[in-house]
Amino acid sequence: MPRPNRQPVPRLSATNVPWPMDWDGLFPNQAPDSPRILEIGFGYGQFLRWLSQSQPASRILGIEIDSTSLQKAEGACDRGELPNVRVMFARAETALWHVLAPGMLDEVHVNFPDPWFKSSHAPRRLIQRSALDLITSRLKPGGLFTLATDIREYADMSAEHLAQTPGLTNTHAPEPWAWERTVGVMTKYESKGYKEGRPGHYFVYRRNDLPAPDLPVIRDQPMPHIKLNHLPAPADLVARFQPFKAHAEGDIYASYMAAYSRPDALLVETYIVEPSIQQQVALLATHNRETGQWVVSLGAVGTPRPTDGVHYAVRKLAEWLMTQAPGVEVVGDYTRTYFRDADAPGDGG
Ligand SMILES: C[S@@+](CC[C@H](N)C(=O)[O-])C[C@H]1O[C@@H](n2cnc3c(N)ncnc32)[C@H](O)[C@@H]1O
Repeated sequence: MPRPNRQPVPRLSATNVPWPMDWDGLFPNQAPDSPRILEIGFGYGQFLRWLSQSQPASRILGIEIDSTSLQKAEGACDRGELPNVRVMFARAETALWHVLAPGMLDEVHVNFPDPWFKSSHAPRRLIQRSALDLITSRLKPGGLFTLATDIREYADMSAEHLAQTPGLTNTHAPEPWAWERTVGVMTKYESKGYKEGRPGHYFVYRRNDLPAPDLPVIRDQPMPHIKLNHLPAPADLVARFQPFKAHAEGDIYASYMAAYSRPDALLVETYIVEPSIQQQVALLATHNRETGQWVVSLGAVGTPRPTDGVHYAVRKLAEWLMTQAPGVEVVGDYTRTYFRDADAPGDGG
């Protein structure tokens, strides 16, 4: 029998789920009140599998940025080996800010997050003040947080941050960590560390009743767009285009990388970095024949999300377009206007 043509199922990702995500929709076979567990950076998935088997009535979300790890876990899910697990392409910070709501999680697990400890990696480390605040906010009272690392400096740094996290209580106190695992199974990375003489440092914390930092879910903004009059022809704009960057306060960056044209449209490939999310998007300037106006907006390539950074990027692209010919003017602005360029002069006050 010929196999029916199956549509490929798109990979679950932080940008193709509602913000915050719908647990009941994602786990239709699990009870709506069943526990919710998050594993960040599951790698080859030994811990994920253990979670699935040891808590069959729970809903387990594994997030990863590595495609091979995701493929392996997706294969196991497709074969029915992990019936209560969903895996998602998501950076931890994006999942914690956008996908997961306050007080939603029963457990958060992080095993061997960053394999190196270099000062140049500090801004990209998973365990930082902001991540611990978010984890505290997303856990329920009584919820469990575990962290393992084989790097002594990473353990010291984590212990310091955790000691300054009043919403989490150390179950190994007065020791900062345990030298043996008390939760879960040995992971691939962990067993390699042991063979190479790097034992694990195991943190186990519980969410207590102290208030969590107030960090609501960052939801979508309305779709941004700006209407312009009198734009030069897109092919002329492409000829003049040089890659450029814009930087707003609040660590928002837009890099305009390449431009392409059709007679009625300009497309600018743009990479937008915000503290909570990084997106490669297509920004468009499209001609509306009826009004004669051009509309600068977010293109629908992939699953771009209209964030603050996208609003800023649309605005800065419109500003660039206005410098390309005399007489280009804004006839409608539907972007949020509260961003200040990072290098803009202060108010003078
Ligand atoms: C050293 S490996 C450990 C993998 C696994 N937990 C283990 O113990 O075998 C770190 C994992 O975290 C993932 N990772 C790194 N940064 C991440 C982030 N910001 N969000 C989600 N996953 C991340 C990497 O892709 C990698 O699979």
